[in-house]
Amino acid sequence: ECIPDIVINGRHFERDEWSNVTPKVLSHIGRKLHSQQGHPLFLIKQRIIEFFYKRFAGSRGNPIFSVHENLDPVVTIKQNFDSLLIPKDHVSRNKSDCYYVNSNYLLRAHTTAHQAELIGMGLNNFLIAGDVYRRDEIDANHYPIFHQLDAVRLLGKHDVFKSLDDGAKMEVFDKMGARTAEKQERHTLEACKVMEDELKSTLVALARHLFGQDTRYRWVDAYFPFTHPSWELEVFHRDNWLELLGCGVMEQKILDDAGAHDRIGWAFGLGLERLAMCLYDIPDIRLFWSQDSGFLSQFADKTPHDAIKYMPVSVYPQCINDISFWLPEDGSFTSNDFFDLVREVGGDIVEQITLVDNFTHPKTQRTSHCYRIVYRHMEKTLTQQEVNTVHKQIEKEAAHKLNISIR
Ligand code: PHE
Repeated sequence: ECIPDIVINGRHFERDEWSNVTPKVLSHIGRKLHSQQGHPLFLIKQRIIEFFYKRFAGSRGNPIFSVHENLDPVVTIKQNFDSLLIPKDHVSRNKSDCYYVNSNYLLRAHTTAHQAELIGMGLNNFLIAGDVYRRDEIDANHYPIFHQLDAVRLLGKHDVFKSLDDGAKMEVFDKMGARTAEKQERHTLEACKVMEDELKSTLVALARHLFGQDTRYRWVDAYFPFTHPSWELEVFHRDNWLELLGCGVMEQKILDDAGAHDRIGWAFGLGLERLAMCLYDIPDIRLFWSQDSGFLSQFADKTPHDAIKYMPVSVYPQCINDISFWLPEDGSFTSNDFFDLVREVGGDIVEQITLVDNFTHPKTQRTSHCYRIVYRHMEKTLTQQEVNTVHKQIEKEAAHKLNISIR
């Protein structure tokens, strides 16, 4: 039997029991939305880059941050997880959450995957932008591919305390320290507080650069395996607290492993779609992938400084169909498998899927799920007949591939 390799950007990967990337997801690799002039994701990314260029300028006004936005989205398990100290049994490694190419490679689940190698190359100040891949639910705010931007800043002993009068006497590292809620064992409290201060003031300034000078914000304690302490920054936008980014002081072991044992660092990561949806009034995440001029032309001639309000071209009606089935008795069913199958068959006309009924038969102990699938085309009206054809196909393939039985 001959199973074809998975081919991504001309590289061949042998399939194995971990492979779960779908043809639909693979077909999106290489679109580089964040690098397309005049795309909303490009505009937001550019606005953030400009902020960093201005805030951290060298002695001749030159930017000190370098930008990396063409890194291959196929990464190793080591890059995505191990190099970031993500435990072997951490849920984020699950097959039901990631797109694995095979047991050695996956489509990166965050741009943080490139941190360690860039530090290893000797970089101290850099931004990473790119497409990231996660298996998730289906609605107006989730798509299996989205875009992130990460930043890393490393400082040596002399830079950390540069602005303090008695800075020359202060230490960054502590051989016998303890890990507390406020700091890592290897860091002095003073060094950690200076890093926290620079990180937080930079990110508040970034949030105000994006959302306006009067924007309200709050810090929420967070946990990431690769930073400690860690926080999330939330901004108040249109009556809601919006989670803008995750950040923290980088785990010293990551720097040690990458050969930067004499430096201390901070890092953050944010999602570009959510930002663009808020700032430009984009109502549905599928629109970023639209090739329709009704969408693209509203951004095409804009600059990162323009205020933009997206006007929906027109909203086409929804068609709603339910699907009910008995789950296989061997427990092999996961809803993310079903979501991927629906994407595969239905493509972008699937707007949302919700589990509307979950029922276990008292006698047979068999479980049945009913999902409501909302269909809507972004650029035209769908007929009920068109939708029925797709819906039937979904039933057929789900029965065949997921071993369910339609009720
Ligand atoms: N990688 C994290 C995420 O995807 C964000 C993050 C990056 C947090 C860097 C802290 C430091 O949610």
